Amino acid sequence: MTTAVEDATTGDGGGHPAMAARAESVAKAYGAGETRVVALDGVSVDIERGVFTAIMGPSGSGKSTLMHCLAGLDTVTAGRVWIGDTEITGMKDKKLTRLRRDSVGFVFQAFNLLPTLDAIENITLPMDIAGREPDPDWLRRVVETVGLADRLKHRPNQLSGGQQQRVAVARALAARPAIIFADEPTGNLDSRAGAEVLGFLRRSVDDLGQTIVMVTHDPVAAAHADRIVFLADGHVVDEMREPTADRVLDRMRRFDTRGRTS
Ligand SMILES: Nc1ncnc2c1ncn2[C@@H]1O[C@H](COP(=O)(O)OP(=O)(O)O)[C@@H](O)[C@H]1O
Ligand SMILES: [Mg+2]
Repeated sequence: MTTAVEDATTGDGGGHPAMAARAESVAKAYGAGETRVVALDGVSVDIERGVFTAIMGPSGSGKSTLMHCLAGLDTVTAGRVWIGDTEITGMKDKKLTRLRRDSVGFVFQAFNLLPTLDAIENITLPMDIAGREPDPDWLRRVVETVGLADRLKHRPNQLSGGQQQRVAVARALAARPAIIFADEPTGNLDSRAGAEVLGFLRRSVDDLGQTIVMVTHDPVAAAHADRIVFLADGHVVDEMREPTADRVLDRMRRFDTRGRTS
């Protein structure tokens, strides 16, 4: 079976085959003149396939901007970006929209579910819109992985926040994207529901081979990742493998002493 993962590797070349996404010397500025803000200032990062990567850093350090640039939701001011082996820098809107639809999944802090649709309808909505048939075996595995099998006929208002975010995670997984981007996915959840959602993100990497990039400022959330990339003032300043919450907290404190954390 051809998956979006493979499709994304048959692009124009120039990417690295082991990478789900790449940024090379990416700069991003907003505004002009006196109001110009440099959100990213020469960021290079490789997002490895089948790995759970967290992006951390103080508020305003450029985490969301980096995610948006890597996901093709925003253009860069300088530098180059690849999704899989396909360079998206300078890509025409239509082609980029298609690549994003076929290869990228998103989970946001707000669950963004449609209230009139039940859980399974929300999960398959993006594929319905794209005119794609969900693979029933895959869909079953996804629903099991996120623990929603007995909630599929519930509407969002009949589900807890944690369950709603699990629906959003399942929706991102359903189309089997090459990469999932999650921006503060536990930001609206209490710690128990947050831990559940993080557990399901973790399982989707371990059991389904999913690639995930998660933006967070929470050391406990980041400890679920395999690798953390630390940003400060629009630069990559550090990296950590196999993080623990304590080690992450220590690293974040060093930002604090420089007065950069909000
Ligand atoms: N659309 C925008 N217009 C102007 N400035 C922006 C915009 N988006 C982000 N910024 C600025 O870019 C910097 C990085 O923002 P962001 O990537 O949201 O940081 P983070 O997610 O780490 O909190 C901040 O100074 C922010 O104010
Ligand atoms: Mg942000």
